[in-house]
Amino acid sequence: MKLLKIKNSKISGKVKISGAKNAALPLIAMTILAKNEIVINNIPNVADINTMLKLLKLLGSEIEFQNNTLKINTNSINSTTATYDIVKTMRASILTLGPLLARFKECKVSLPGGCAIGLRPVDLHIKALEKMGAEILIENGYIHAKCHELVGCEIIFDKITVTGTENIIMAAVLAKGETKILNAAKEPEVVQLCEILKENGVKIEGIGTSTLSIQGQTDLIEIKPFSVIPDRIEAGTYLCAGAIANSKLTITNIIPTHIENIISKLEEMNFSFEKNKNSVTILPTDEIKPVNIVTNEHPGFPTDMQAQFMAVATQANGVSTIEERLFENRFMHVAELNRLGADIKINGKVATIYGNKQLVGADVMATDLRASSALVLAGIIASGQTTIHRVYHLFRGYENLTEKLKNIGVDILLEEE
Ligand code: EPZ
Repeated sequence: MKLLKIKNSKISGKVKISGAKNAALPLIAMTILAKNEIVINNIPNVADINTMLKLLKLLGSEIEFQNNTLKINTNSINSTTATYDIVKTMRASILTLGPLLARFKECKVSLPGGCAIGLRPVDLHIKALEKMGAEILIENGYIHAKCHELVGCEIIFDKITVTGTENIIMAAVLAKGETKILNAAKEPEVVQLCEILKENGVKIEGIGTSTLSIQGQTDLIEIKPFSVIPDRIEAGTYLCAGAIANSKLTITNIIPTHIENIISKLEEMNFSFEKNKNSVTILPTDEIKPVNIVTNEHPGFPTDMQAQFMAVATQANGVSTIEERLFENRFMHVAELNRLGADIKINGKVATIYGNKQLVGADVMATDLRASSALVLAGIIASGQTTIHRVYHLFRGYENLTEKLKNIGVDILLEEE
C-alpha cells in the first residue's frame, strides 16, 4: 500500500487538466452499443478507467489504451457478466447494465454494495429498465436482467441520478420507439454522452435539460473518433489548491462554463480570476471570506467539490457552513481535517467550519477520492509534514497527481507504506 508525504509548500504555475473520469466511464460503456472500432481521445489514465477497461476486456472486447487514447472494439464481446470482483472495486461498472441488456437482451451485473460516502442504491436504474420491459431478478448478489426487447416509455426519476440517467439513455438507443426521461441529470458528463450519440446519428432531444427524448433504433451505432471533455472536478480541486495556499495558479485545458458553480463560490470567498477561453487563473486575496455551501445536482454546487472547499474554509476569516444534500455519509474527511488542527463540527447534514486555523502536519487516512484530495490540499499549507495513508483512493480519479503537484512547487513524495 502506498502513502503520500507532503510538506508545507509555496505553490505557483500552471496545471493542465486531464479528461474527465466521470465522462469517460459512461462513454466507454457506450461503446457496447457500437458496431465499429472506436477511438476515444483524452481519456485520463487513472485506476477507475483501467478498471472499466478491464471489465470490457473480460467481456471480450478488444482494447488498446496508450497515451490517453483508447481504441476499442466491442464486436468480440462473448460474455455479458460483470463479476463481483470488478464491481466491488468500482460502482460505475453498473454503467454496463443498460447497454449490455439493450444489445444482448440478457446480462448479469453484480449488485454494487454500500460505499464509503453513502448507501448508494441502484434501485432507480432497475426500476427504469423494468418499465422498459426488462425482467430483473436479484439473485446471488447479481442483477440478472433479461428482455425480449426493450420498449421506449416515459421514465420519471424519483431522484436525479447521474449514472442512472446515463444507463437509461444508453438502453434507450436500442429500444423500440421513443423513451422520454423526466427529471434527468444535467451534469456536463450526461450532456457529452448525449452529444456524442447525437453526432453519430441517434435522435436525442432536450440535451442539457431535465427532459430527454431518445428515439430507439434497430441498428448498432457507428461512432467517429472523439475527445472526452476536461475534468471539472480536477479543475476545481487545483483551483482550491490555489485558494488554500492563497497563491496565483493557472489551470489550462478546461471548459470554463463547466466550472462556473465552483468559481462563483471562490468569488464569494473573495478570490478573483483571470478568465480566458480555455484557462482560468486564480489570484491571491487580502482576506479569505467564509462561505455557505449547499451541494446539489448540476448546475448546483457539486458534491464532488465539497471536501476540497472544506479544506479551504479552514483558512477563511470567519465561520463557513457546508450542507451535503446528495450523500448521507460524505463527511469522512472532517475527522481527518480536525486531526490536522481544523475546527469542524458536524450536525446532521451540515458541517460548520471555524476558520483562521493554523494546520499542523500529522498522519491522516484517505477515505474516498474527494476526501483524500481535501487532505492533500490541507497538507500543502499545514506546517511540517502531512502523511496521507491509503492514497490509492486518489489515484482512482486524479491523473499524474504527484507530478502535477510537484510541477507547481509542492514538496510531495509517494512511498510504500
Ligand atoms: C455520480 O455517481 C458520480 N460518479 C459521483 O462521482 C458523484 O458524486 C455523483 O454522481 C453525484 O454527482 C460517476 O459519474 C461515475 P447519483 P452516481 O446516482 O451516479 C441516490 C466521484 O468522486 N440514488 O447521481 O452513483 C444516491 O444514493 C464520484 O467521482 C438512489 O437513491 O450518483 C444519491 O443519494 C463519487 N437510487 C443520489 O441518488 C439510485 O438508483 C445521487 O446519486 C441511484 C441514486
